[in-house]
Amino acid sequence: MSVATDIHKMVSETYTRAVTTPGGGCCGTSSCGGSSQKGTLAKMAGYDAGELAGLPADAVINSFGCGNPLAFSEVRPGEVVLDLGSGAGIDLILAAKKVGPTGRAIGVDMTDAMIERARANVAAAGLQNIEIRKGIIEKLPVESGSVDWVISNCVINLSPDKSRVFAEIARVLKPGGRMRVSDIVVQDLPEVMRASAALYGSCVAGAISEEEYLAGLRAAGLVDVEVRERVVYDASQLEALAASELGADEDVKKLAAAAAGKVWSAIIYARKS
Ligand SMILES: C[S@@+](CC[C@H](N)C(=O)[O-])C[C@H]1O[C@@H](n2cnc3c(N)ncnc32)[C@H](O)[C@@H]1O
Repeated sequence: MSVATDIHKMVSETYTRAVTTPGGGCCGTSSCGGSSQKGTLAKMAGYDAGELAGLPADAVINSFGCGNPLAFSEVRPGEVVLDLGSGAGIDLILAAKKVGPTGRAIGVDMTDAMIERARANVAAAGLQNIEIRKGIIEKLPVESGSVDWVISNCVINLSPDKSRVFAEIARVLKPGGRMRVSDIVVQDLPEVMRASAALYGSCVAGAISEEEYLAGLRAAGLVDVEVRERVVYDASQLEALAASELGADEDVKKLAAAAAGKVWSAIIYARKS
């Protein structure tokens, strides 16, 4: 198997565990173990209580994002929104409500357990304008020039081929279409963390710097590329994140202290001219 296939398999296994096993490790700023903590995560990611109250509880509990990309968009009724790595469907459902019955929300994810969960959550929300497609974000099962918005929440850092993902975003957007992505970025991450397979699935080890992210989007031909918001993680947040994969001990504490201030979630903007 190629390195990319191995990474897809490992990430997919991580998110199958995350959605099927309480305590399965995953992306987020605190441990994903236990359903009550999962709900807290979604609130920390920047969703407001009113937004969450209108969603199926399972979509909130199984939300593994690191921001609220739609909160930074101006999605309007009738538009088409594509969510890369749509997980259990939180942003997909919010997007479908924004675009209304004349618009469409399309989610792409590679993990069967997530797709199954998202379909159940969409049914519980009673929405007809959502479609979930199985596929990889490096080769989107989406027609060229067909979407008004690309959103994604804590997914692109997990990709083994980010420049392919950026090229795919540029391909599927309509001219004038916009991207709002929430993702983890890092600066000078300690090598021991970068090398950790466990921390790859937790959205840390595979993350790139803001500079690389923005350069990658520009190289794909996108314009108005910028970071607008940042939430920098402190040592205690990183410790909780690392502990969910590596266990809680003194070494993990030291690791988290060394990485404090070097890992953050960013809201990244781009547009197709
Ligand atoms: C951290 S979770 C985020 C899920 C969702 N966006 C949310 O905010 O709850 C990552 C999701 O992306 C999916 N994913 C990761 N890499 C992917 C890839 N290369 N292609 C398709 N889906 C991928 C995983 O299966 C998982 O559902």
